[in-house]
Amino acid sequence: MELNGKVAVVTGGTRGVGAGIARALAEAGARVTVCARRPPPTPVPYAAYRPLDVRDGDAVRAFFAGLDRLDVLVNNAGGAPYRPLDQADAERHARVIELNLLAPLTVSLAAHPPLRRTGGSIVMIGSVSGDRPSPGTAAYGAAKAGLAHLARSMAVEWAPRVRVNTLVVGMVRTELSHLHYGDADGVEAVARTVPLGRLADPADVGAAAVFLASDAASYISGASLLVHGGGERPAFLDAATADHHGQET
Ligand SMILES: NC(=O)c1ccc[n+]([C@@H]2O[C@H](COP(=O)([O-])OP(=O)(O)OC[C@H]3O[C@@H](n4cnc5c(N)ncnc54)[C@H](OP(=O)(O)O)[C@@H]3O)[C@@H](O)[C@H]2O)c1
Repeated sequence: MELNGKVAVVTGGTRGVGAGIARALAEAGARVTVCARRPPPTPVPYAAYRPLDVRDGDAVRAFFAGLDRLDVLVNNAGGAPYRPLDQADAERHARVIELNLLAPLTVSLAAHPPLRRTGGSIVMIGSVSGDRPSPGTAAYGAAKAGLAHLARSMAVEWAPRVRVNTLVVGMVRTELSHLHYGDADGVEAVARTVPLGRLADPADVGAAAVFLASDAASYISGASLLVHGGGERPAFLDAATADHHGQET
């Protein structure tokens, strides 16, 4: 699984999950550019940085039109604050959908011509929040569900030249984990809920992105790959009074 000679762009690759993806792509041999609104908080020697707001369609189109080559696009920029539905109006929630669904469409459309020329691929960074109820981040979950669906349609429309896949990511330990899970005790407690016993490291997501971008995945398109450490143990198992060593219901 190597990416020697390939050129990759990772949106939001300046920190967190995106930085792990950018590093993994670079370690696999790709020439990587990360783009975000602000420069990386700590230098990323393995990638070039270009300022870009993925919600600004004109700037996005100008950025991709200026590339000499593109083999891999990772639509990673995204996220949302905790906000129960009735604590904001629809226009506010729409901003979350704009960043997590509309912007990846804008970026993918701008990247399509150069990706067609190289026979490249797109990796969408989805979330388990798009596969299950997402209380407190409902608009985000809806956008991520839409993103995985968009990827499946895009994979059909842009085949056979461009492959499109989604990484459906579980909980990742990043610089901002405390915002979601609290202090170290909170992170530890949350980690115990994951079958593999830990949150993902950004490098885990990076390794999966390298695979999907590489020739090893040359027959994989329109797929969703779960990177969630085994998922969530069904809550009812701990609440039920039945003997769960017995027969499954
Ligand atoms: N962390 C998790 O546990 C987790 C779980 C599942 C899925 N994910 C997904 O993984 C991706 C990255 O999440 P993360 O936790 O690493 O987030 P993060 O730490 O908040 O990083 C987000 C990155 O996106 C950039 N970004 C934000 N808004 C942007 C905009 N309008 N234009 C360009 N860049 C923008 C940020 O830089 P600037 O702010 O400087 O622009 C930053 O580089 C997201 O798609 C998220 O939904 C994360």
